[in-house]
Amino acid sequence: MHAAAIVAAAGSGSRLGAGLPKALVPLAGRPLVCWAVDTLLDGGVSEVVVVVPAAQRAEFEAVLPRGVAVVDGGASRTASVRAGLAAIGPAATAVLVHDAARPLTPAAVVARVLAALEAGTPAVIPVLPVVDTTVLVDDDGLVTDAVPRAPLRRVQTPQGFDRASLVAAYAALDPGADLTDDAAVVRRAGVPVSTVDGDERCAKVTVAHDLTLAALALTVGES
Ligand code: C5P
Repeated sequence: MHAAAIVAAAGSGSRLGAGLPKALVPLAGRPLVCWAVDTLLDGGVSEVVVVVPAAQRAEFEAVLPRGVAVVDGGASRTASVRAGLAAIGPAATAVLVHDAARPLTPAAVVARVLAALEAGTPAVIPVLPVVDTTVLVDDDGLVTDAVPRAPLRRVQTPQGFDRASLVAAYAALDPGADLTDDAAVVRRAGVPVSTVDGDERCAKVTVAHDLTLAALALTVGES
């Protein structure tokens, strides 16, 4: 199986407040996007396309390894992944979509996703259980109900897809649609989505505290 990966790295990172695109923010001296690319290659992906903010394309090209394709992203994550999908080479039969914002994702998670695709699943996502009590609130912040947490899962990346299924699902999607992940895109097209075990180290860097935790994890040798 020839698997390509799209790394969504075109977000602004405004919630992180670093003053540069989140994917370029350094963790232990290396931009987050470089960690994400390495994980995918270590896990068995053959080809990587990184989707970047058009205005900072040169900065990304300067730090990414040779052989990695760089394309301009869009206004939403969905638009960015769509642009990445169009840039994948003809040999790929499977596509992984990963967030640059998950720098410490273990290569073993990539390998689990690839193994599920190899076994014939058309779509697969890494998930973890929900450990907190989870409730619904109304517009005033009042709790209206508690959600049974046993069937709930937190969804991570990389998410893996049979290439034809992902391409068809994006082709059928409204051009303006903005979904938070790619499993939602293929589910809209009727593709069943399977799960494999995720990993706490796939945690997404969104706010400054997440970066502190990632740096700490490296310091104590967790990754
Ligand atoms: O905003 P959030 O952290 O959920 O973004 C998830 C990933 O999607 C990030 O790696 C971000 O760079 C990427 N993204 C993108 N294009 C956008 C917005 C977000 O590639 N327009």
